[in-house]
Parts: sequence; C-alpha cells; structure tokens
Amino acid sequence: MSKITTFLLASFLIFQATTLTATEGMWLPLLLESLNEEEMQAMGMKLSAEDIYSVNKGSLKDAIVHFGGFCTSEVISPNGLLLTNHHCGYRQIQSHTTLKNNYLKDGFWAKTKKDELANPGLFAKFIVRIEDISSKVLNDLSDDLSEKERQSQIDKNIEALKASVKLEKFEEITIRPFFKGNQYFMFITVTYNDVRLVGTPPESIGKFGADTDNWMWPRHTGDFALFRIYADKDNNPAEYAEDNVPYTPKHYLPISVDGVEQDDFTMVFGFPGRTDQYLPSPAVEQIVDVLNPAKIAIRDKALKILDAEMRADPQVKIQYASKFASIANYWKKWIGESQGLKVSDGVGRKKKFEAEFSDLIGQSTKSAKKYGNILPQFNKLYKEIEPYALKRDYYNEVAGRNVELLAIVNYLNRLKTNFEESGEEGYNSYLGRLKPFLKNKYKDYNKDIDKKVFASLVEMYDENAGLGPHASAIKKKYGTYDLLAGGMYGMSTIADGDQMMALLEKDPKEVIDRISEDPAFKFGAAMRKHYNDNVSKQYNDIKSQIDNLQRNYMAALIEVFPKRRFFPDANGTMRVSYGQVSGYEPKDALQYLPVTYLKGVMQKYVPGDYEFDLPKKLVDLYEKKDYGDYGVDGKMPVCFLGSNHTTGGNSGSPAIDANGNLIGLNFDRVWEGTMSDINYDKSICRNIMVDIRYVLFIIDKFGDSKHLVDEMKLVHPKKGK
Ligand code: ARG
Ligand code: GLU
Repeated sequence: MSKITTFLLASFLIFQATTLTATEGMWLPLLLESLNEEEMQAMGMKLSAEDIYSVNKGSLKDAIVHFGGFCTSEVISPNGLLLTNHHCGYRQIQSHTTLKNNYLKDGFWAKTKKDELANPGLFAKFIVRIEDISSKVLNDLSDDLSEKERQSQIDKNIEALKASVKLEKFEEITIRPFFKGNQYFMFITVTYNDVRLVGTPPESIGKFGADTDNWMWPRHTGDFALFRIYADKDNNPAEYAEDNVPYTPKHYLPISVDGVEQDDFTMVFGFPGRTDQYLPSPAVEQIVDVLNPAKIAIRDKALKILDAEMRADPQVKIQYASKFASIANYWKKWIGESQGLKVSDGVGRKKKFEAEFSDLIGQSTKSAKKYGNILPQFNKLYKEIEPYALKRDYYNEVAGRNVELLAIVNYLNRLKTNFEESGEEGYNSYLGRLKPFLKNKYKDYNKDIDKKVFASLVEMYDENAGLGPHASAIKKKYGTYDLLAGGMYGMSTIADGDQMMALLEKDPKEVIDRISEDPAFKFGAAMRKHYNDNVSKQYNDIKSQIDNLQRNYMAALIEVFPKRRFFPDANGTMRVSYGQVSGYEPKDALQYLPVTYLKGVMQKYVPGDYEFDLPKKLVDLYEKKDYGDYGVDGKMPVCFLGSNHTTGGNSGSPAIDANGNLIGLNFDRVWEGTMSDINYDKSICRNIMVDIRYVLFIIDKFGDSKHLVDEMKLVHPKKGK
C-alpha cells in the first residue's frame, strides 16, 4: 500500500462521521473496502466491497466490460450478451446500415445467433485484477532529480516491474498514473475481439430527441443496444471466426424488474474517461472565458453546414450521422459546462478553496516554504499559456477534426516523415495501419460538404490563429477562401477518396513524390509547420511545467487537508460511483422529478420530424397499454435520474441497485451539471439512465425478441424473489 493510500485511510476514519450522503467521486474498486464501503452501506447498499471487487471469486467487476475503449458495457446473460448504449454502438450500427437495410431507421434484431453481425476492430476488455504499485514505480526518486531524470527513473521502474509480473495466457498489463503522478496502479486485462451486434432499436427510440434533447432532462431516450462476446472453444479470446462460440462469463448481472423510487441506492460501475477536479482557478477561468467559447464557435459553424446537407439528402444523413452526433455532443456539453460554471460560480468557489489552502500552508513555515509558490506559479503559467492554448484548440478543431481534408493531410504527413526517417520499412509499417483507417474515413467523407467546411473554418482559423506566411501566400494566389477551397478540392488527389486509395497502392517513392506535390498537402503542411514552430512547441514547454506543478499541488492538497477524502481524476480506468435516485432544482422554483414515462415520449412526438418522430408500433403499444410485465400501474417508465458522479466513457455503464442487480443503463448527464468534470456540485449534478424495464419492453414487445429476454435472469428483490 502506498504512503498516500495509508494516508487517505487514516484521514477517512476521521472524515466519515461527518458525511454520509456524499455522492462526489469516482472510486477505485479495489479501495472501496477501506474508503467507501461503510458509507455505501449507510446509504442503503446491501453488498460488501468484496461482492463488488474481488480477485478470489466472481464479483460484479467481472461483468463490467470496457467497450471498444470508449464506452462501458455489461454482461447480462450466461451467453456473453452485452448491453451498452445505442450511441456507443452507433458507428457499428451505421456501418451495417444501407438505404435498403436501414438499421439506423428501422432497428435490427438477430433472430438467431447466426444472424448476429461481426464488427471488425471492436473489442471487449475485462479487468482481471488491479494493484497499487506506487511504491515500486516511485522507488529511488530523490528530490533533486530534474523532471526529465525523474521521468526516466519512473520509466525504468515500470519496465522492471512489467518484466517481473507473471501473466497468464491472453493477459495484458496497463500501468497508469493517478493523482497527477503521485500514485500508480497496474491493471491486468483480457481482451476479446469478436463482438457481434445482436439488437438495436430504431433511432427514433435509441436516439429519440437526438441533439435537441441531448444532455437534457426530462429525457425520453431508449439509448441501448445489444452485442455479444464470442470466444474460442476454450472460452478464450480469438479473432472473429464463424465457429467461435458465445462467451461464458465469470459473472453476469441479474436484472431487477422491481423499478426504482426516490432515494433508492444506486451505483454506476464503468470506465469514466477524463475529469479535471483539481484545476486551479486560473485554469477554470480560462476554460470558461477563452477556450470553451472558441471551440463552441468553431463547431457552431461546422454543424450548421453539416445539418443543412444532412436534412437535404437521406444518403448524406446516414453517411454523416455518427460524425455529426459526436461533433454536436461536445459542442453542447461545452455550452452547458460554461453556463454551469458561471451559475455556480465555479471560479469563485475555486478561489475560496485556494484561499483556505493558502491559509493552511501559511500556518507552518515548512509548508509555506514547500508549497507557498504553487498558486502564484499557476497564475503566471496559465497567463503565459493562454494564447498558445487558444491557437492549439483552433488547430485541433480545424485541422485535426472538422476539416477532414486537413486531418487526412496530417496522417499523410506522418507517412512521409516515416518514409524520410526510416525508409520503406517505416513507411510500410505505418501504411498497414493507415490504409484501413483511411478507407473507413473516406467512406463517410463527402468532398462537396468538406469543401464548404474548409472554406468557412479556414477563414476563421486565419483570423484567430493565423495561417502563417507560407499558407497565406497560397491563399493569396487564389484570392478568397471560397476560391482557395475550390482550388484545393478541385485539384487535389487527397480530396478524392478513390484516387487517393488507388495512389496508396503505388510504390512508396511515387506515393511520397505525388503527395508532396499535392496542392492540399502543400497547404496543410505549411499550416502545420507554422503551427508546430510557433504554437505547439511553446505550448508543450509551458504545459510540462504546469503538469509538474499540478503534481505538487495534488500532493500538497492531500497533505494539507487531512480530513478530506480525495478521489483520483478519471483516466479511463475502472471506477465505481454511487448515489441515489434523485431529482433536482434546475432553476429557482423549478423542481425536476426523477422518473419519466412513455406518456412523455408521446407528448414530444412530432410525426415526420427529424428528431421527434416515432415508429407506429410504439404508438400502438402505448395506446393499448401493452407493456407486458414491464409496466407499473398502467405506466411505462423510460428514464431516471441519479446523483452518481459520472463522465464521458460512463456511457453504457450499468446502474446497479443495493443488491447488485441491474436497474438501468447510464447514458448522459443533465445540462446544468455537465460542469461536474471540473467542479462537482451535489445539488445539480445528475446522471441520466434508461430504466431497464423500458429496455426489456422494447426488446420483447417492440422488437419481438423475447428469446433475448429469456437468456437473462430477471429478479424481484423488492418482492423478496
Ligand atoms: N451526451 C451523451 C454522451 O455524452 C450522449 C451522446 C450521444 N447523442 C447525441 N445526440 N450526440 O455521450
Ligand atoms: N454520453 C456520455 C458517454 O458517452 C456519458 C455522459 C457523460 O458525459 O456523463 O460516455
């Protein structure tokens, strides 16, 4: 056990008496027993920490699966049936969709296992065990090491540790820093690569309300999809093969059909991606005042163009569906985050906290000497980094993401560098990965649309970040940004998917020569070089100083606030959050109840609408109140709210009741509370889950797929069954 863990433990004993309903925090499953078990049980949980995470017996964690590395999913049958969100499986669903077999529009239900659809590249990762390895990784680090020397000693320690760990066949190691590098944990994982699509409702259910309702309450989306893990005959991971068999799990979640009530205990178990809970006030100020507004404005422009094109052409709607949803998702989140931080005075709260911190360190000369410089340094460094951070966001948004031609140029630039630095061997090894990636990208790329995005966003980039002399000279030759775009997309091979893929089949030298002469490549490479020399280098220098300072700040916080229980920021590793079913007050005098019903879906129904249309069959089931065993008092529950601390990556996470049964599927947060990534506020931060009974109702009554429900284990804990 590391020093910090021992420390946290000691602090917790003093702390626990004072807070019994704290819901802030994403906790490491292996530390629940020492840090959280008592509180969880006081909140109503009937399980022990060992039931949730155990290395000796099957436990809840054996049913929790990292889905493709970006979402969470859970095993819900003895035959490897996997539940996740519709929006997590979106790309896969889209990839099987054509205008003829329109699974996005009509849904898809495999009637037999033979009908389940393979998804190359998609994986399901299990956690075998987690270990605190801080003392080994942070061994032999004296205070006088430079940052570089420190990191190289850490790398050495990690290599030595990796070499000493005994792995079973198929096991892999991941080592990750926690608490900004003050602690390290090791994760032993096993990954399955044959994951097939089993079922999905139509978008009009799985994405009901689309972007208008995204991040909002009250919510009425049946955001789920079903997959299945396949294994070889020995239940081991295997690449896709027709004769692979359904995976037999160590544990799968039983499903409670008894429903939820206000204040019921809930736990969300999954893989939250990233939070920044310990940023200093100048960083938060910069996000609210400078960085979020810039990113929002860029995406605003891109989205308006894509939206118009998608509404005009059903083929484009399919082609751009997944891309549009992901651009719109964070655009809207940033708007909510900024508003939330303003309304809750996130910056003021941080400043108050920092004043408290300064007071405490001021009380001891030793601490003052050790930590007194941290906050002033933060102020100085955040001021210095601001112009670079802003331009960096511009570059990443414009050339790294929203203008696809420029993003592709960046990949080709890397191909060229590989060729120049490590000859044909380096070229071929990168090309092997690049080809399937580009093929996929071009499949959903439309030259005419991208050209419009280019003209609009490159102009914006030039005004705010500056193209630099070379790219500017190219632009000047053409005249306007529109003419520049016309020239690029008219003459560039890279702008044409078929031509570019054909070119990649030629010999390396020819490919590199042709790419280098390509007008879009010349423009993109000039823009990139200017960015690298004038922004990226400076940004990275300052950022590494900030990171080191942040590590010291974290250590200082833990030392200076011995009564606080700290949780490490999300970093894509397995965590447990817990809370209760609970509504909130979004505005003065407005109260939100925690459960929505099918009635509310019908109230939002707009026939033929882009976002609020419904399948006739659902309307019929509603009119007949044909809810099978899933309704309650003639009503069909749809979504519910909880006070579990979650973030992106928690999509698809199970909502689990006091007894370890599945009651819902996490898929979103409320808008007023999206600032929880930076500044959690227990009064308004809520996560949104689909009620599991709605999932079962849609599979059984709407999808006519009772055979899937029959695979699951339905229980009635409230009725004692
Ligand atoms: N906001 C949810 C999350 O962050 C759902 C996103 C998918 N839906 C959408 N309309 N873009 O992933
Ligand atoms: N929809 C998010 C996801 O894909 C979860 C919502 C959130 O950010 O909390 O992970």
